[in-house]
Amino acid sequence: MMAPQLEKTLEERARVMLERNRRGSWTCPSITVYPHQWLWDSCFIAIGVARYDPQRAAGELRALFRAQWANGMLPHMVFADGAKDIGSRRIWQSKKYPLAPRDLDTSCVTQPPLPAIAARRVARALPASDRQSFLAELFPKLLAYHTWLYDERDLHNSGLVTLIHPWECGLDTTPSWMHLLRRMPLPWWLRTAARFGLARVVRLLRNDTRYIPVAERASDDDGLRMLVLATRAKKHHFQLEQMPRHSSVLIEDLAFNAMLAAANRSLELISRDLERPLPTELQEHFRRTEVALEHLWDEPSGQYYSRNAVTGELIKVPTIATFLPLWSGIPTRAQAERLIELLQKPTGFWPHHPVPSVPIDAPEFREAGYWKGPTWINMNWTIAEALREYEAVELAERLRLRTLRLVEHAGFSEYFSPLTGDGYGANDFSWTAALVIDLLASDDPTPSANRL
Ligand code: GLC
Repeated sequence: MMAPQLEKTLEERARVMLERNRRGSWTCPSITVYPHQWLWDSCFIAIGVARYDPQRAAGELRALFRAQWANGMLPHMVFADGAKDIGSRRIWQSKKYPLAPRDLDTSCVTQPPLPAIAARRVARALPASDRQSFLAELFPKLLAYHTWLYDERDLHNSGLVTLIHPWECGLDTTPSWMHLLRRMPLPWWLRTAARFGLARVVRLLRNDTRYIPVAERASDDDGLRMLVLATRAKKHHFQLEQMPRHSSVLIEDLAFNAMLAAANRSLELISRDLERPLPTELQEHFRRTEVALEHLWDEPSGQYYSRNAVTGELIKVPTIATFLPLWSGIPTRAQAERLIELLQKPTGFWPHHPVPSVPIDAPEFREAGYWKGPTWINMNWTIAEALREYEAVELAERLRLRTLRLVEHAGFSEYFSPLTGDGYGANDFSWTAALVIDLLASDDPTPSANRL
């Protein structure tokens, strides 16, 4: 247990920081590097803020839905009026699309589908008199979002959603995506640029490297390829169905689908609370996802992987995403035991400051390399939740305490060295602060509340 005095200070500091990053009804991830609203960031922020100000947390989620497209899509970014950004609003030009909101600029791709999970947690924290009406207000919007995911992104009715860009999975530069991005056929100008090292030119257009050392961000090369991929998707109006298979990178992403399975369960629980049944077709999609997640399991290595949606091959690069299916409760006991053993290996996923986004003994591991190694608080929080699904409460508790100590030591950084605990990336990062508040409050080792 931490000393109560310490807890109080950390919590107070987190609240002050979240107040500073507040932008009216929503909260930006970081004032300098991320001045807009991001989808899964706001979900994590709402989960933490609900611990002390549930009305603000409800507003955070409502603010996300003001950007919902007429087809149900929730964009991964909602641009702030007047906030400076170099180029990124221009990549999307969302208002060109008739289904996009008229009064806001948004991105045209999505991000991990956590709103149903966050909505349930926020609802639980609201006074009883507001709970049902909040859920009733969000329910049709959540239904529209999950329906869009299946209608537009599960073209073969396999139960797995296909992503068209790594920004959608939230773990932007994770090695599984970068592996395929590096094999993507490039336009002639990019091949030339790569040959002459001109990828560095892109740095002049980047916002992040004005504030953060280059070594801690996506490399120029990865950055340029991600930009090329976004431009290609734009040519096809960000429509999976229209995207050519040979020049796109299409992935049935493990992290996204695992989080979708957990979110589907939250949506089922909301529908029960409201006594409003889910449409039968959607229920069938949910069941298919539960079965299909198992197709991402690789028995010999005892890990889950993302799958190339074009070739059907698993992308066997080890990443932290392997633990996320535990959150949905779908893996069998035997699978869970193997994953829990894998998690505790000191030379892999359990170094001094667990849990690295890539195991430290993998060739792809980079200590400061964005999603290629560092420890992220949203992943630790999710894994601690996931462990409770399987009653691994003692390990969940160890992870909770280690995570709190890490932030106490290094501050509310965006990510951390799993070896030394040094903080990297943006300094005052909102989900780090919000989830610390939630971790401080969740010292009651009751198993998950997301069970059906
Ligand atoms: C980075 C992260 C992404 C996050 C965003 C805003 O792009 O990779 O997951 O949502 O920053 O914090």
